[in-house]
Amino acid sequence: MGLTLPVYLDNAATTRVDPRVVEAMLPCFTEIYGNPGSRNHSFGWDAEAAVNAARAQAAQLIGAQPKEIIFTSGATEGNNLALKGAAEMYAKKPAGETSRGHIITAQHEHKAVLDPAKRLQKMGFDVTFLEPPADGVITAEAVKGAMREDTILVSIMWANNEIGSINEVPKIGAVCHDRNVIFHTDATQWVGKMPTDVNRDNIDLLTWSGHKIYGPKGVGAMYLRRRKPRVRVVAQIEGGGQERGYRSQTLNVPGVVGFGKACELCSLEMDSERDRLLALRTKLEKSLSASIDHVQVNGHAEKRLPNIMNMSFGFVEGEGLMMAIKDVAVSSGSACTSASLEPSYVLKSLGVGDDLAHSSLRISLGRFTTEAEIDFAIEKITWAVHHLRTLSPLWDMHNEGIDINSINWQSH
Ligand SMILES: Cc1ncc(COP(=O)(O)O)c(C=O)c1O
Repeated sequence: MGLTLPVYLDNAATTRVDPRVVEAMLPCFTEIYGNPGSRNHSFGWDAEAAVNAARAQAAQLIGAQPKEIIFTSGATEGNNLALKGAAEMYAKKPAGETSRGHIITAQHEHKAVLDPAKRLQKMGFDVTFLEPPADGVITAEAVKGAMREDTILVSIMWANNEIGSINEVPKIGAVCHDRNVIFHTDATQWVGKMPTDVNRDNIDLLTWSGHKIYGPKGVGAMYLRRRKPRVRVVAQIEGGGQERGYRSQTLNVPGVVGFGKACELCSLEMDSERDRLLALRTKLEKSLSASIDHVQVNGHAEKRLPNIMNMSFGFVEGEGLMMAIKDVAVSSGSACTSASLEPSYVLKSLGVGDDLAHSSLRISLGRFTTEAEIDFAIEKITWAVHHLRTLSPLWDMHNEGIDINSINWQSH
């Protein structure tokens, strides 16, 4: 099979929409175009039926009831609703006072959790940002150790978007439930790839997004537990009272239908896809480690999503490496959200030094990744690292036995 360039290996950033999802969405633009809130005619009823079917598909993927699904515009909104909505609902004191309650999260969460958590700090809540260990895995022990008498909410992502490491979510949920603390998990990188059961896994609030699971952008969902315990959040977007008042706005019916179809396809294909991706990732990782010296895989060796690999290549600079592998689309260890080339805060929080963080790539595989593409990436990256090293004075110095870290770079 011929290879189409460039090769896309940035599936943790976003995914191509599955053609089966597009097909499911198309009638919602021109045929099923009613407002699902319209109660008086068949256009409204048809749209409502389509939304209900999608709600059932989304619920099924995570072992929830359809009534426990609230459609959102994606994981950023879902995380804002979960954190701010739960904090406001379970606050110990009213707005305007301090010590309104304690919240636990971690330093290497996505900004869509960190920034709402920082906002809550300004609003009078105490927030503990747990420092992850070098392997990036937040344990139930760590969460237990940070619990206080006044802890109201814990938010720990299921799997990290930069390194793929998997936190001890079911155990963390159990710790929270023992103490009647609300537990939210940002499962954006997890759901659809790994088996999920909100009851078995002790989750109260769970957020995910369509565009990471081969669905459209701008749509996602939040799971809100209704029984044992019944969990509530304060709405953050108010208006027409859609989604049982938790999230107002006329629903994005094509998006929701596409999201539902994407969830259904993940449910059906998850098991075989997981094995396939793991085999491809293992090949990538082993081949690069065998053909290039001074590489390091960031994150946990085993407790990691099957589709994400984050690797540092000593003595090369990540941005230069990305330029040298132009035909392979990946992410670098520099913060992509800013114009500055600050090393990634996630890698920094694991204790990865600035130099190795700068020299890292995140390679993320997906449903449409083929073995031929992985072979191409291995060849390209191996060539590029060796080539860049031949140009690097640091590499020459290293080969002459000079310890790079001992050099005093200041001029006198
Ligand atoms: C872990 C995690 N949380 C949240 C988000 C934000 O998702 P969305 O783009 O749907 O707002 C992303 C995607 O970038 C993510 O990887």
